Amino acid sequence: MARLNNSKQSGGIPTHVAIIMDGNGRWAKKRGLPRTAGHTAGAATFRHITRYASRIGIKYLTVYAFSTENWKRPADEVNALMKLFHKQLVESLTDFRDDDVVVRFIGDKSGFSDNLQKLIAETEEVSKDRNGMVLNIAMNYGGRDEILRAAKLLCEDCMSGKISADDITKEMFAQKLYTANQPDPDLIIRPGGEARISNFLLYQAAYSELYITDTLWPDFSEDDLIRAIDYYSKRNRRFGGI
Ligand code: FPP
Repeated sequence: MARLNNSKQSGGIPTHVAIIMDGNGRWAKKRGLPRTAGHTAGAATFRHITRYASRIGIKYLTVYAFSTENWKRPADEVNALMKLFHKQLVESLTDFRDDDVVVRFIGDKSGFSDNLQKLIAETEEVSKDRNGMVLNIAMNYGGRDEILRAAKLLCEDCMSGKISADDITKEMFAQKLYTANQPDPDLIIRPGGEARISNFLLYQAAYSELYITDTLWPDFSEDDLIRAIDYYSKRNRRFGGI
């Protein structure tokens, strides 16, 4: 079993880990199952890894559950995903409560059904005063959309005379992102082997370390997370310096 040795000794546990939960479809195909079975298996992994991440001391976990581009998938798959989100949110409430996890949603919530929006609001409300790990669930999320939204919000502030364009700083811009007041991700993990960022946390990922593994998301285990953290703990982060 992989151990946390290096990361623990060097204080190398990343504060903010982000995960692109990819490979559900391929996992199902390999087993001759419908793609939706892969998403169901992926949802179980999501719950397990979330609990584990909070127990090993990660402070922020952001998972990519549904992108602004995922609506292009066949209607059957999109409908199944919406049902799955609903079921998972209801069921995972207890898991997350026991672990004191604060649940937040990043993305354009208005794209979801009234029912799902209500559940999202309830989930955020009941967990907002907890003290544990912050879990950001990215749903109907796109990095470009988020940046555009931030630019529009700043434009409004300029037009109403609250600020002037010359005064806008990187910090002010970050305050208009869904992740306002949160640290940028230290480590982005992509299971499923694809080496791309797929419109995820485009602004926040400027200096994130990337860890790509061929393991498909439903198979992603505690050991895989520890391997990613060990990889991270050995990186020499320079943030553009030398
Ligand atoms: C990408 O794999 C995965 C998704 C689009 C869905 C991810 C959703 C879950 C794991 C459910 C989590 C539930 C909550 C409430 C957060 P893919 O279908 O693109 O896989 P492929 O690349 O193998 O086709």
